[in-house]
Amino acid sequence: MSNTYAGGVAPLIAPSILSADFARLAEEIGRIHGSDWVHVDVMDAHFVPNLTIGLPVVEAIRRSTDIPLDCHLMIDDPDTWAPRYAEAGAYNVTVHAEAVRDPISTAMDIRAAGAKAGLSLKPGTDLDDWIDALRSYDTLLIMTVEPGFGGQSFMADMMDKVRRARRMVDTGHLTVVIEVDGGIAEDTIVQAAEAGADCFVAGSAVYGADDPAAAVAKLRALAAAAR
Ligand code: DX5
Ligand code: ZN
Repeated sequence: MSNTYAGGVAPLIAPSILSADFARLAEEIGRIHGSDWVHVDVMDAHFVPNLTIGLPVVEAIRRSTDIPLDCHLMIDDPDTWAPRYAEAGAYNVTVHAEAVRDPISTAMDIRAAGAKAGLSLKPGTDLDDWIDALRSYDTLLIMTVEPGFGGQSFMADMMDKVRRARRMVDTGHLTVVIEVDGGIAEDTIVQAAEAGADCFVAGSAVYGADDPAAAVAKLRALAAAAR
């Protein structure tokens, strides 16, 4: 696989700052040097029960690091809000299929505002229903937990969805980066890489480690060996 993205060549590792210390975000991002993307989980207490951070914090993070920001919007009305995250300097802005009203127009708005556009599928959402829309997107985020919280168990039964997405990309039907999110750790990343994921979000496995940058390097090596 020779696809190149901002920050490197697949496999990409995107630590989720959901598991970082929110009182020391800039310092915490400094602990994941060598990461390809910084994954920023935006939650609104409506689309998901949890509430995290929004635009002002993303703008502040953008000023504090050169690592591309991967904003995962777990919010209602992403059609309105997603372009604002692109304007705030995100590299990739991902909206949820279950929340977006006009997926193609929203992808165009995100791109027009200067970012890559991502579409995320919850575990119960069928890939087949979103193939047409995905032709307007750069990133497909396949959730391997129910969105809302870090530290949940990896859903291995999502690997079939990853494999089907991989086939669509390899046969030229889609041109998305395939990203997986939830429960990715040393013991699960190999199956996700074997199934064909390009980009791996990891929160607790990175920030729960004594040396987060070393954890990122280890995850990347495991994924690279499995691909
Ligand atoms: C869950 C978030 C994930 C979360 C992953 O809704 O989208 O990005 O931070 O955390 P871990 O890696 O701990 O499952
Ligand atoms: Zn996420």
